[in-house]
Amino acid sequence: APIPKRQRFRVLRFVWRLTWLSALGGAAYLAYHIYDSKHPPEQLPLDPTKKTLVVLGSGWGSVSLLKKLDTEDYNVVVISPRNFFLFTPLLPSCTTGTIEHRSIMEPLRHIIRHKKRAVKYYEAEATKIDVDRRVVKINDFSDVKGNVSETEVPFDYLVVGVGAENATFGIPGVRENACFLKEIGDAQQIRKKVMDCIETATFKDQTEEEKNRLLHMVVVGGGPTGIEFAAELQDFFEEDLRKWVPDIADRFKVTLVEALPNVLPMFSKALIDYTEKTFKDENITVRTKTMVKKVTDKNIEVEATQADGSKVKESIDYGLLVWATGNAVRGVVRDLMNQVPAQKNSRRGLAVNDYLVVDGTDGIWALGDCSATKYAPTAQVASQQGNFLARLFNSMAKTQAVEEELRALDAQLQAATDEAEKALLTAEINVKGRSLSKVKQLSPFQYSHQGSLAYIGADRAVADLNWFGGAISSATGGELTYLFWRSAYVSMVFSLRNRILVLTDWLKTKTFGRDVSRE
Ligand code: FAD
Ligand code: NAI
Repeated sequence: APIPKRQRFRVLRFVWRLTWLSALGGAAYLAYHIYDSKHPPEQLPLDPTKKTLVVLGSGWGSVSLLKKLDTEDYNVVVISPRNFFLFTPLLPSCTTGTIEHRSIMEPLRHIIRHKKRAVKYYEAEATKIDVDRRVVKINDFSDVKGNVSETEVPFDYLVVGVGAENATFGIPGVRENACFLKEIGDAQQIRKKVMDCIETATFKDQTEEEKNRLLHMVVVGGGPTGIEFAAELQDFFEEDLRKWVPDIADRFKVTLVEALPNVLPMFSKALIDYTEKTFKDENITVRTKTMVKKVTDKNIEVEATQADGSKVKESIDYGLLVWATGNAVRGVVRDLMNQVPAQKNSRRGLAVNDYLVVDGTDGIWALGDCSATKYAPTAQVASQQGNFLARLFNSMAKTQAVEEELRALDAQLQAATDEAEKALLTAEINVKGRSLSKVKQLSPFQYSHQGSLAYIGADRAVADLNWFGGAISSATGGELTYLFWRSAYVSMVFSLRNRILVLTDWLKTKTFGRDVSRE
């Protein structure tokens, strides 16, 4: 039966009002966040009666901790050579200018200025953690130095969140000749070098052989970093370079070299096959079972395993070489491990207990890529560990406060003579005692895996996802997954400012294409 006119009108009026309300809500949300980001609050000064909590690093682990930490309870000192947080999942997009690098950086100063109590920040590297003297030695390695560029910072509690460095497995020539992809500077260097290779290849009288070498982009490592970078690079070529530098169209080539039999080992078999097929369709050459043994300034020496198991040595010329073979332990972490006998058998980083306390130490915690746990070194793990440590420190502070109150009440009870007063005090002590045991009941860290996502080029992504705490899992790949990838990352970037910048960059790239100038 047709809906009566009156009812239709009511529905339309309801939808109209709802639209208005959502628009108003959205505008209020935006206005509040813009105002809040531009007007930091008055902060409490540092308090000498509070414990000093030193946090090393400004990455996923440390910043997640800072975000949720109640700084009123501690004097917090942050030490990191990087005065910003970097949203690494979108770093591969910066190598080709799909996203501008500043869009995925959030200044640490913005973060700490919004905390209740002032937080000190020193732009420096921790060069040594002295466990016995409970101090961290720090060095300012930046270009501009004052009279003092080396000092010590004492701590009561220390959180080590310094991440990891690039693994090279001691392969000769890697450090000298390859680009890495971990920091913002790496992405900028790659962007510059890609364009340099292209402009050099088109230089007057360049030989054919040299053109082929310069336009061969080799990526070593078929983990998610290598895959996402290779995908972004091929997109750049297909969508922009081919058009603006037609001379290179027949020669530009991306090759991905992986030692294992397949790429993306952490994904399901169906998604690995899908990725390899997509790469083939996109003309990205994937060389699996191929181990790089040596690197020079113009070529790599590899050992490829044939179908019959025999090994063949080969030399591959390259113009750009990007090295993405995972993580290695940082020097400062290795030094800490050498000071603590309980760390003797740990290889991948600092061994920690269920509460992330560094084994064999007191008052030192570690999180993220510098810790060795049963979990993969990902942003997901580091940020959940940061949230956990914030809960732990908040509850430790509450415990101390309640314990102090209990001590004061106990003293009053001992001094009391009146029976009614004694009964009242006893009741209060019981209530406080119960709340204390509640606060103390913090369960150990438990990781909840939400799944893995990776961009594989040509507007496609792969996703192995867990829903409802792992009760349901799904493996999808394609263009819809890419839309999901985009919305997931845009919702996860640090701030509203980052969100708007990333969205604007995507729109800019779709409208005008990527910038092919070499900075
Ligand atoms: P980091 O985030 O690396 O932070 C370490 C911090 O310590 C930095 O601020 C650094 O400047 C500082 N530091 C270094 N040395 C010192 C020192 N001596 N003293 C003091 N501070 C120091 N994971 C995912 O889950 N999903 C993804 O999509 C994803 N994409 C990625 C893409 C790329 C290109 C890369 C490289 C990684 C990606 N990861 C992803 C992995 C993720 O970025 C890391 O697991 C995560 O950054 C680890 O966090 P962290 O806090 O331990 O270290
Ligand atoms: P990885 O450790 O995941 O992969 C490195 C790859 O390099 C391995 O497959 C290894 O077999 C290969 N390799 C090592 N030495 C080699 C050699 N000599 N020759 C050829 N191949 C060699 O490293 P990646 O990709 O840098 O990732 C590091 C961490 O960050 C991982 O935990 C990863 O899950 C996480 N990450 C997650 C992303 C995502 O979820 N989208 C994106 C990027 C990183």
